Amino acid sequence: MRPSKDFLRPLAVGAPTPPTDIPARPSRAIHFFDPSNAKMAAKIPQMVGGVDVLLGNLEDAVKADNKVAAREGLVRIGQETEGLGGPDSPTQLWTRINSLDSPWALDDLTTLVPAIGHKLDVVMVPKVQGAEDIHYVDRLLAQLEAKAGLDRPILVHAILETARGMANVEEICGASPRMQGLSLGPADLAADRRMKTTRVGGGHPGYLVRQDPPRNELGVAEIEAPRSVFQQDLWHYTIARMVDACAMHGIYPYYGPFGDIADVVACEDQFRNAFLLGCVGTWSLHPKQIAIAHRVFSPSVEDVAHARRVVAAMGDGTGAVMLDGKMEDDASLKQCLVMVELAEQLAAIDPELAEQYAAAGSED
Ligand code: GLV
Ligand code: MG
Repeated sequence: MRPSKDFLRPLAVGAPTPPTDIPARPSRAIHFFDPSNAKMAAKIPQMVGGVDVLLGNLEDAVKADNKVAAREGLVRIGQETEGLGGPDSPTQLWTRINSLDSPWALDDLTTLVPAIGHKLDVVMVPKVQGAEDIHYVDRLLAQLEAKAGLDRPILVHAILETARGMANVEEICGASPRMQGLSLGPADLAADRRMKTTRVGGGHPGYLVRQDPPRNELGVAEIEAPRSVFQQDLWHYTIARMVDACAMHGIYPYYGPFGDIADVVACEDQFRNAFLLGCVGTWSLHPKQIAIAHRVFSPSVEDVAHARRVVAAMGDGTGAVMLDGKMEDDASLKQCLVMVELAEQLAAIDPELAEQYAAAGSED
C-alpha cells in the first residue's frame, strides 16, 4: 500500500507534481482519428476549435503494419498543428496508446512524451485490468516527463473493456492522482464477457421486456396475442457503475463508440442515456457524431433556465419553495447547480451556447 502522504509526490525525481484535482475541461466529443491516414490527418488543422478533443488513435482500427506510421503521424500533428493541445487550447490533444500487453505500447509512450508531451493532455489506456496497469503507466509517465523537462503532468484515462476491469473499476479510478476519467469500451467488453451481441455499442432488439398477455373471458392468458415490447439498454449497469466509481474519485465518465454511423437517431439516444446518467462526453468515430455529441452533452436551454430559476428562488439554499406546483429544496438545488455549472463551463468555450444560455437567464 502506498502511504497517503506519498500519493501527491512525483514518482520520479524532477517530474511535475501530480494534480490534486482534475479540471472540468469540456470534453463532450472525443473525436478519434487515425494519424497514419493522410486524408484524415490533413483535416485536423481545420478541426481545431470545432471539437472539444482530438484523439490520435494508435490502437484497434489501426492496422499492425501502420502502427509506426500512426505514432509518427501523431508526433507530426502534435508538433505542427497550431492551437492543438496544452492547457490553453480550445481543443485538447489526447491519444489512445496500444494495450499494455502489445509490442507497441512502450514505444508509443517513449516516443510521444519527449516529442509532444507538452501538447498531450490525456493518454487513454485500453483494456485496463486493474490498478497495476495504471501504476505501470503512472511511473513510466513520471520518468519520461522528468527526462523531457515537462512542467505539467499528462493525465490518464482508462477504457473499461474487460470483465476484470469492471470488477476492479473503483480501484482503477483511485490508482493515481493522474486519473482523468473512464470510457466504456462496449465492443471489447462484450467479447470479454461473452455477451451475444456483435454490435459496437448501442441497444439490441433481443434485449427487451414484454407486456403481460391479455386474458380471455375465461381468465386464460392469450400468450400469442399482440403485446408491446420495450427494448432495454444493454449498457445501463456498466455505465451506472462507471459513473459511481468516477464520481467517488472526482474524475469523469464517458460513453464510448457507437459503431452504426448511419443511425444518427439511435446514436443520439445512446449518448443521451449516458448524459442523463452522469457521463460528461462520448467518443466520435465520424465527423457527423461530433455535432450529436455537442448537442447532447450540453444542457438544454430550458433546463438551464429552470435551474437558474430554482437557484434564484432558493435564496440561501436552505428550506423549500414551490415553483410551478413542484417542490424544490436543498437537494433539488444541488441538482440544478450541476446544470448551471456545466452551462457556465460550456459557455466559456462556445460563444453560440453562451448567447443561448444568456438569453435563457434573462427571461427569468
Ligand atoms: C472500444 O475500444 C471498444 O472496444 O468498444
Ligand atoms: Mg476496444
